[in-house]
Amino acid sequence: MCGIVGYAGNGDAKTFLLRALKDLEYRGYDSAGIAAINGDGITTIKRAGRVSALEETINGQFGQATTGIGHTRWATHGAPTDANAHPHLSYDGKVAIAHNGIIENHDKLRRRLEDDGIEFESQTDSEVIAHLIARHMQAGDSLLTATKKTSRRLKGLSVILAISADEPDAVVGVRIGYAGSLMMGESSDAWILASNAAAMPSDVNAVTHIDHCEAVRISTDGATIVDVVGNLVEKESVKLIAGNRISEINEHAHFMHKEISEQAATVQGALRGRVDFSNKRIDIPELALLPPELNRIVLAGMGTSHFAAMTGARRIERLARIPTSVEYAGELADRDPVMGERDLLLAVTQSGETYDTLTAIEKAKSVGSTVAVVTANVHSEAARMADVAIDIGSGLEVAVPATKTFINTMLVLYMMGLQLGRNAGRLSQPDFDRHVQSIASLPGAINRTLGQENEIEDLAYDRFINVENMLILGRGDLFPIAMEGALKMKETAYVHAEGCSASEMKHGINALIQPDTPAIVLVPENGELRNKILTSIYEVQSRSGEVIALAQHGDIEVQALADAWIPIPTDDDEHTPFLMTIPLQQLAYHTAIARGYNPDRPRNLAKTVTVA
Ligand code: G6P
Repeated sequence: MCGIVGYAGNGDAKTFLLRALKDLEYRGYDSAGIAAINGDGITTIKRAGRVSALEETINGQFGQATTGIGHTRWATHGAPTDANAHPHLSYDGKVAIAHNGIIENHDKLRRRLEDDGIEFESQTDSEVIAHLIARHMQAGDSLLTATKKTSRRLKGLSVILAISADEPDAVVGVRIGYAGSLMMGESSDAWILASNAAAMPSDVNAVTHIDHCEAVRISTDGATIVDVVGNLVEKESVKLIAGNRISEINEHAHFMHKEISEQAATVQGALRGRVDFSNKRIDIPELALLPPELNRIVLAGMGTSHFAAMTGARRIERLARIPTSVEYAGELADRDPVMGERDLLLAVTQSGETYDTLTAIEKAKSVGSTVAVVTANVHSEAARMADVAIDIGSGLEVAVPATKTFINTMLVLYMMGLQLGRNAGRLSQPDFDRHVQSIASLPGAINRTLGQENEIEDLAYDRFINVENMLILGRGDLFPIAMEGALKMKETAYVHAEGCSASEMKHGINALIQPDTPAIVLVPENGELRNKILTSIYEVQSRSGEVIALAQHGDIEVQALADAWIPIPTDDDEHTPFLMTIPLQQLAYHTAIARGYNPDRPRNLAKTVTVA
């Protein structure tokens, strides 16, 4: 969940590390720190709060240091204080470490070190690493050997970066299991180790992934990777694809606002090179790598990705007539599912790093199922583990609340359903053509929907600023959208929002209806679900509940019925799940602003959840 970065070269380590930490800050942002080596040994500066607070504190310190490590933290063990921020120094001041992961046996290791007279400066599990490395080095080991030996004593998953005053040009990295990625890149003046590509300098075009049980040493003399027994490992580097860097925030106050507002353009990334609108063709080439006859597709993800998976399961089942199921990746990983060689796990993860999703992938692979990953990060661990990785084409998402990755994932899963259905002959050509036509007009419809932002902002200030509880109701394709809308309100504006299938109302939810618990109801234009959801509107109103409806723009029946409504500018039902998502995103964003919260960095949450 944290971001780590190391620099060994000829340039100014501090300036590089500060820039890199700003680019990694979206991963964890409760504290940050830098340790670097200059003539006087190791200097460590760390602060609770944002990287900008660290920057102010540094103010010219570190001199001309050319070797260093940095860390931006999401606390697991120990509160986010100055002392608990990384890097941590060893008892003799000669070793500094930054750590991602959790050390399950840290209590025991700490007690032993304390029994030997070592005093701890922090409450973290990570500090033991610095002391253990220093002890091995005092006994004569190199930094690489000492770090490897230390890593073997740690239970759990870890990525470690270490520097030592005794090897002032070097940074050593070790990875045990998966606690976030560790990748290496070479720039014009340095070797870099980092938890992801966003931290790499712009002249790094390829990276080498450090795998489980591998250790790496970078210095001005070059880079060496070794395996668990110390043998040299030759590894291929992989070319970085575009979209892995943090883009400029431009005129937007927050990345969440930018990421919502650019969605009409972002969806083009999912379509580009895959859809031929003139000849009515969809070609996601990776699908050709899947087994031809699939028994079943199990979709799994966490958070927003789980809700995107729910939309995909419905579309794939309907269009390709393949049985689908969908669940939280963490639940799948904890079970002994009946899955086999003709089942496909379709893992949905924008970061490609979510611990539970990686564990579900491992489980599916262990029973011989094929694994496809739908992700915004084709350099991620999930993409590397899977048989097939499909890029959603959104580029890196920075704000913790996922927005553009949700829309792009939905669209890619929809296109997968269309391609699988047409290839299997289960979707007729005219139906397929109608869907392609609908996709062609989707970016324009998204643009029109985004244009209603002022009305949504007014709604946030007029109606939601003081709301503590609310409901969002949907059915069918709009049920996952209700769930996602509620998640946005929870994580962004800290409103207790229940996203529900309106079919569940009589089974408990009706008991929550009260005048101060508004219900947003998502109403489709056509189909039998429309009448059912209209009934739900009556149910809410007859119990003194307030209904704010989302419905297509010509829907005068809903306009007359609801207490307030948000018109969705489309006449196409296939657009509705995409378009109804947008005002819900905007409402969460503006409610957060109205209530004085930073939507990019919600309390207690992180963008990339690499621990269990
Ligand atoms: C965290 C993020 C969410 C995201 C979820 C799953 O909770 O804050 O925005 O939806 O992880 O992440 P993934 O990277 O697997 O999509």
